[in-house]
Amino acid sequence: MNVLGIESSCDECAVSLVRDGKEILSNVVFSQIEDHKVFEGVVPELASRLHVEAIVPAYRLALNQSGLKSSDIDGIAVAIQPGLVGSLLVGVNFAKSLAQSLGKPLIGVDHIVAHLYAPHLEYSISYPYLGLLVSGGHSMIVKVLRFDQMEVLGASIDDACGEAFDKVAKFYGLGYPGGKAIDDMAKMGDPTAFLFPKPSLYKGAHTYDVSYSGLKTAVTAQRAKFLRPGREDNLPNLLASFQKTAIDLLLIKLKKAVQDTGITRVVAGGGVAANSYLRATLKEQKGWLVYYPSIDLCTDNGAMIAGLGYHYLHSGISHTLDLSVRSRVPGFKMTQ
Ligand code: KG4
Ligand code: ZN
Repeated sequence: MNVLGIESSCDECAVSLVRDGKEILSNVVFSQIEDHKVFEGVVPELASRLHVEAIVPAYRLALNQSGLKSSDIDGIAVAIQPGLVGSLLVGVNFAKSLAQSLGKPLIGVDHIVAHLYAPHLEYSISYPYLGLLVSGGHSMIVKVLRFDQMEVLGASIDDACGEAFDKVAKFYGLGYPGGKAIDDMAKMGDPTAFLFPKPSLYKGAHTYDVSYSGLKTAVTAQRAKFLRPGREDNLPNLLASFQKTAIDLLLIKLKKAVQDTGITRVVAGGGVAANSYLRATLKEQKGWLVYYPSIDLCTDNGAMIAGLGYHYLHSGISHTLDLSVRSRVPGFKMTQ
């Protein structure tokens, strides 16, 4: 079964064809990063307009690279939530038109659930597992019971982990998005050079929650030291210490979730899952079975949408043309 996946929730216009939820036939990602860079963040109105320009060329290229004809497509999956509404609408309306004109089923999927599906494109992973979803908009620890069943154990009560990376990078002039730049610079620094405070979210509903706003403030408050001549070389130390603290916050909660649930299979997904310190530390955990996607499948892509869409289609689930989009999802502890 060949499923087309469309992803337009933020600043990537991505279209992919995936066979049987596993084999990536094509994976086109038109990134808007260069267009948003000048504003040091994503401008929603600009993002929607760029999606309108990119969606048809992205579809044509994905189809071309897959070697398939449009009549070979068995279903059209599209990200419907969470994300920027104007951007999501471009992908969803294109998916509806295509589904209607080809006479094929339409499947709306959740972007967050799809991020955790990404490693399934490369590995055979059984359920249940604990999912660590870390992206620019979300930081969540979830229990995944099936491809379409997920229970949120904890989340950030304020900023997302990726957002903290982006804001710190912006503050220290490393550009947008900042996750990769911090990751690279942190490799030259000492992660124990600075001791940043960790939030005390240990009890009740907050047992598995994290928080990043305090850490962000603490890291940016160090700036005065770098304005003094001769101290610039401290930046790699600062960033390495920030990165360690930001990732350790999640790992502390993840370890607790593993202990409490007895589930030792752990799957990471989302842009921050590309972080080298996170990947190395996850692999070090004794007794855990850890999966994370290849770097290009960590950030937004259409293959994860198509892969997840296949399972809905295979279970006989599809949606009607009144499918709508949502910026937030009730029940998810959201940060934006
Ligand atoms: O999943 P994604 O592409 O978009 C959202 O759904 O939000 O994630 C983008 C986020 C950005 O915040 C970016 O800075 C972060 O992922 N990111 C990283 C790394 N690569 C991307 N964060 C830390 N280390 C990295 N190597
Ligand atoms: Zn994403």
